[in-house]
Amino acid sequence: MKDLYAIIGNPVAHSLSPRVHPLFAAATGQELSYERVLAPLDGFVETVRAFRASGARGCNITVPFKVEAFQLATTHSARALQAGAANTLRFENDSIYADNTDGVGLVNDLENNLDFNLVGSRILLLGAGGAARGVLGPLLARSPKCIVIVNRTAARADELVAGFGNAGPVSASTFAGLTDKQFDLIINSTSASLSNKSLPLPAGVFAENALAYEMLYGKGTTPFMALAQSAGARSADGLGMLVEQAAEAFLVWRGVRPTTAAVLAALRAETGAETGTK
Ligand code: ATR
Repeated sequence: MKDLYAIIGNPVAHSLSPRVHPLFAAATGQELSYERVLAPLDGFVETVRAFRASGARGCNITVPFKVEAFQLATTHSARALQAGAANTLRFENDSIYADNTDGVGLVNDLENNLDFNLVGSRILLLGAGGAARGVLGPLLARSPKCIVIVNRTAARADELVAGFGNAGPVSASTFAGLTDKQFDLIINSTSASLSNKSLPLPAGVFAENALAYEMLYGKGTTPFMALAQSAGARSADGLGMLVEQAAEAFLVWRGVRPTTAAVLAALRAETGAETGTK
């Protein structure tokens, strides 16, 4: 029987992870199966237990279970501890190891695929939910000039700043407070684009040569990406982050890190999602 893995979430039908991992396996000469598992909203732990009992070796975790996955695990990587959430579990003899590869996936996509230099950059992070929390530590580790967090519910941005303030130059603002401010990188970690909602961003917020990064993928040109494009900024969706976080998860499970360029190109051709357009 092939080693078994899955993506567990709710919803999970949209996930492209079951496309990515078999391509990595083929490219690295590994044998594995990778499934999609829908967990009931109140049944995440039972779902993981049953999946593990079926002989599985590990799983990826998506919304809304990343915090529960972190809590279920018995050992954690430093980056999972920093995020307080996990997107990757590895089943071991008597324990479950948790990692969070979302942040490093984003950083690798920005720096290696999109040629964006994070060092010394001015970053605006939109949203203060689980997705923002997962990427903040690895972004700070690349020594940006500053990271400003703006969230619809301001108190959640303040909370995030309180948790990460010791790790680097992080501060909170409001949407109104962004007038007259400019950023080199603007990351949309909110779920606003899922419902086709735009965010109240001043048009002047995009610095010259700015990159607007939508963490979602498979939604075409979102309102956030369209706003960036109309302001003359470069925009990208989160397909590259998906592939890069998957490569790191593959490394956690299989001990070998696949290269990502060919897989990203194949998925880009399939989904028709956008990147790098002006
Ligand atoms: P995730 O794990 O995807 O981050 P989450 O923890 O539920 O999910 O967080 C969703 C984020 O998207 C939050 O920052 C949320 O803002 P609030 O904290 O004010 O709820 C943000 N969000 C969702 N819909 C939004 C919208 N229409 N406009 C602005 N922000 C939105």
